[in-house]
Amino acid sequence: MKKLVVLELLLIVITIQPVYAGDIGAGSKIFEANCAGCHINGGNIVRRGKNLFKKALKRNRMDSIEAITELVINGNNNMPAYKDRLTVPEIQDVANYVLQQAENNWRR
Ligand code: HEC
Repeated sequence: MKKLVVLELLLIVITIQPVYAGDIGAGSKIFEANCAGCHINGGNIVRRGKNLFKKALKRNRMDSIEAITELVINGNNNMPAYKDRLTVPEIQDVANYVLQQAENNWRR
């Protein structure tokens, strides 16, 4: 629970920075266009254990904006790199969206 509060504070801090607005709606669209092919409904069709549910994100230390942003920028194994396709603010939006969806257990 404490960790969640810290995360929320972090989100607020990141969100109030000018230009980048931590836009969940935009993050959702970016996810549908770029990520859902492999991560439909928060799963992972390539490596099942590396899904986007809270438990896996935690286990794989992917439960932060920073970690997800870095992974999406650079890619890893069969996870593609997006640095040539998405801007950093776009990647932060989609990271934000992933963490929010994980909190909601990818319920729609
Ligand atoms: C071509 C399939 C593919 C696409 C498209 C894809 N991923 Fe992945 N993703 C993977 C694979 C494979 C892994 C596991 C990588 C590894 O071996 O560590 C992964 C891992 C992840 C993880 C870590 C999950 C964990 O539990 O460790 C996150 C977060 C993630 N992807 C987010 C995204 C986002 C956001 C996008 C869109 C911008 C995206 N992925 C697009 C295949 C994909």
